[in-house]
Amino acid sequence: MQAFLELDHLTRTFAGTPAVHELSLSVGEHEIVTLLGPSGCGKTTTLRMIAGFETPNSGRIVLDGRDVTQLPPQKRGFGMVFQHYALFPHMSVGANVAFGLETAGLTRAEVDERVTGALELVQLPGAGDRSIGSLSGGQQQRVALARALAPQPKVLLLDEPLSNLDAALREQTRRELRTLVKEIGITTVYVTHDQEEAFDLSDRIAVMREGRLEQLGPAEDLYHGPASEFVATFLGRAGAVTGRVETIDRGRIATCRLAGGAKWKALTPAAGGPPQPGAEVKLLARPEALAFADRADQGTLRGELKDLRFAGSVYVYTVAVEGGELEVQGGADEARLGDVVAVVPRSAPTGIFAFTVRSLGQDP
Ligand SMILES: Nc1ncnc2c1ncn2[C@@H]1O[C@H](COP(=O)(O)OP(=O)(O)OP(=O)(O)O)[C@@H](O)[C@H]1O
Ligand SMILES: [Mg+2]
Repeated sequence: MQAFLELDHLTRTFAGTPAVHELSLSVGEHEIVTLLGPSGCGKTTTLRMIAGFETPNSGRIVLDGRDVTQLPPQKRGFGMVFQHYALFPHMSVGANVAFGLETAGLTRAEVDERVTGALELVQLPGAGDRSIGSLSGGQQQRVALARALAPQPKVLLLDEPLSNLDAALREQTRRELRTLVKEIGITTVYVTHDQEEAFDLSDRIAVMREGRLEQLGPAEDLYHGPASEFVATFLGRAGAVTGRVETIDRGRIATCRLAGGAKWKALTPAAGGPPQPGAEVKLLARPEALAFADRADQGTLRGELKDLRFAGSVYVYTVAVEGGELEVQGGADEARLGDVVAVVPRSAPTGIFAFTVRSLGQDP
């Protein structure tokens, strides 16, 4: 996909500490890319640099082939919804939406037309005369979106726009948001720390950690092929055990001997070269990749059932094993607390990942 918005080695430092470090990222036209990461990892700083509210120490921002790094915000063509979406409570809905248009040199009639159009887009037709205070949280969020869309920006920047909504409304609103954004076809950079939200909304996800890009790709690729332990655990649940690599097959599949004796196959990260035989690894396993076994062979790992959690349609069992703790997804009554159980992979290496802790011959 051709880059429509390109971030090229962006760095922003506050008092000597980098909030964003050498971040490079391309967003295709019409694409929704989400910046996903924990609090403080630099998501808002990145979005503010794109919008022009924050100046990078180094790096470039290119929009549609044009370097916009030095342009003021109003000349860049971005529409932004802020983390705290800051509507003017004393102004009407229409005046809020018109706010960004007033400096754009449009006639009164053109402004009115844009406001009406934007409110229709967010499904609040005719709400222009209402006061902000008379709207629900979800409706206010849509007004903020209408305000961002009214100037007809080239790119939409959304910083946790749903964080003020309760869980049920948040889920509904994010589906509507994706439908709307896809209908308009506007290129979008979305920021969230919520993995489910990122999965629901994005074409691709950029996982950030401590100001750096950790991994970029479609949700499935990140979930099934995490580049790091951080990505594996941030994007879903995963238990962990220690082990040692015995052999490597087909370049990426490690057969590992676990601390508890069992032999499991695991995927190793695509980048950086596979671990060498003998390397000490940490195996992370998704709960749905494991099952209880009623057999005993070299694939079974024994442990004690420590905890049991009802997770809606399934149960998740926590099993303490030698060298770690695993989670196993199953049905009701598969085991009781304190039972000694045997755990096996369902279809290894799917959902089991090996990350090198120490290579053979490397000092501890
Ligand atoms: N104006 C500022 N002055 C000093 N430090 C700042 C400033 N803005 C951000 N930071 C620091 O930069 C880092 C990244 O902050 P940022 O707001 O980008 O994180 P975030 O990923 O958006 O987090 P959250 O999910 O909590 O919104 C943090 O350590 C923050 O304290
Ligand atoms: Mg933020």
